[in-house]
Formats: sequence, structure tokens, C-alpha cells
Amino acid sequence: MEARASVIDKRLKDIKNIISVASGKGGVGKSLVASSLALNLKKKGYKVGLLDLDLYGPSSHIILGFSDFSFPKEDNGIIPPEVFGIKFMSIVIFTEDKPSAFRGVDITNIIIEILAITQWKKLDYLIIDMPPGIGDETLDVINLIKDSKFLVVTTPSKVAMAAVDKLLLMLKEQKLPILGVVENMKMKDGSFVKDRLKELDIKYLGAANYDSELEESIGKPNQIQNTNFMKDFEKIVQKIG
Ligand SMILES: Nc1ncnc2c1ncn2[C@@H]1O[C@H](COP(=O)(O)OP(=O)(O)O)[C@@H](O)[C@H]1O
Ligand SMILES: [Mg+2]
Repeated sequence: MEARASVIDKRLKDIKNIISVASGKGGVGKSLVASSLALNLKKKGYKVGLLDLDLYGPSSHIILGFSDFSFPKEDNGIIPPEVFGIKFMSIVIFTEDKPSAFRGVDITNIIIEILAITQWKKLDYLIIDMPPGIGDETLDVINLIKDSKFLVVTTPSKVAMAAVDKLLLMLKEQKLPILGVVENMKMKDGSFVKDRLKELDIKYLGAANYDSELEESIGKPNQIQNTNFMKDFEKIVQKIG
């Protein structure tokens, strides 16, 4: 573990900013937010990488329409393939998107392996699509990747917010930097997410409304850029930093 940790540090050393997109809950839009953030930063001219570490439910490749499942090039590590100019790494690149059962397999080891072999080289931003919840995988990623800032996603649901609350408290307890919280899939006015964040002294970055047309654009990054979701999300990105 120690030796691996130093290999990982070396692999990440030329990355200026690491942003982990996390939530205490699944299905709130983490992957959409991570992919959209990567697209937005790329559009602004930054060198961007996207790492999908949700090994149970990888979905960034679907959102970005990544379908090149030929084994990536190797040169002192694995060179991440590009999708829409974004360097992309995901477990699906190794499993060729076939159903992979990780039951009983040590997920931490797979995460360590991916982090230890990927050659990102110089990046302005690496965006990480995190596993849901605050289970072992999430804690492992937090411990293995130093210097990451956290972008947390919730929906305006008391159930989601209860889980997100736990994640936020854990991040705070560990004194990890929280960029703020995105309220996704908003459907009507309401301020309980904002109010709770005020109590926790955590930045509310804004809301992205539920976009009933979004599904049509999944897999087509060009179209995602023109969705109502992206219009809301661009305002949110301006507040990060
Ligand atoms: N603002 C939104 N409007 C409409 N659909 C959304 C929105 N945000 C996310 N979705 C959809 O909800 C589903 C779950 O989003 P996803 O990013 O996969 O969540 P997570 O990664 O947190 O599990 C996806 O089908 C996604 O396209
Ligand atoms: Mg996801």
C-alpha cells in the first residue's frame, strides 16, 4: 500500500486541480455533473481528464458517448484514450463494457491499480466521478488521492440530503476542502437544501432544474452543451473556485 501510494502521487503530480464529484446518494446526477464539468472546462480551453471510479455503476462513458473499447496504448503506463478532447479512464476500458461482477473482488485494489497505471501527464483539471455513498471505496479514494477538492451533488429530496449530510460531515471532520454543493433535478421552489447548507457553513453553488429533454442528448456531448441543464450548470461552474 505504501509503495503504491507513492506511485499514485507520482502519477498525479502534474495535475494542477483535482475535483472529486461525490454524493452520499446514488442517482442524483454525479456522473452527469462530472461529465458536464469536464466538457465545460474543456470548452474553456483547459487540459482535462475524467476518471470514472464508480466501479459498480460506471456511466460517464455512456454520457460522453465513449465507445472505443480497444485496449489503450501503453507507454510506461496506460495512456488514457480521448473522448471529445477529454482524457478518459474508466473500468469499462478494461472490461470492454461487458458485465463485470466485482463481488468478492477487492475494489480498493482495482482503484489502486487504475490510479497507479494511468499516465495523465499534464492536466489543468482531473475530474473524478466518485463511487456513491460513504462506503469503503469512497474512503479509499479519499485517502489515496491527496489534494482533491470535493464537489457534492444532491437532489432536493430529504432522503438524498440526509445521506449527503453524512458525507459533508465526514469531509468536514477530515478537514477536506469542499467546493460546495449542487442541487440537481430541482422541480419546484424550496430552500431546505440551501438552509441546511447554511447551518453546516458549506457553500450552496446553485440549482440545476430537472430537464425533461436531457435524455435525448445523453451520449452526444455536442448536444449536452446546448441543453437547459448545461445552461443552469454553467452558472454553477462560475461559482466554483
Ligand atoms: N437535471 C437533470 N434533469 C434530467 N435528468 C437528469 C438530471 N440530472 C441527472 N439526470 C439523469 O438522471 C439519471 C442519473 O444521473 P447520474 O448522473 O447517472 O447519477 P449518479 O451518477 O449520481 O448515479 C441519468 O439518467 C441522468 O441523465
Ligand atoms: Mg454515476
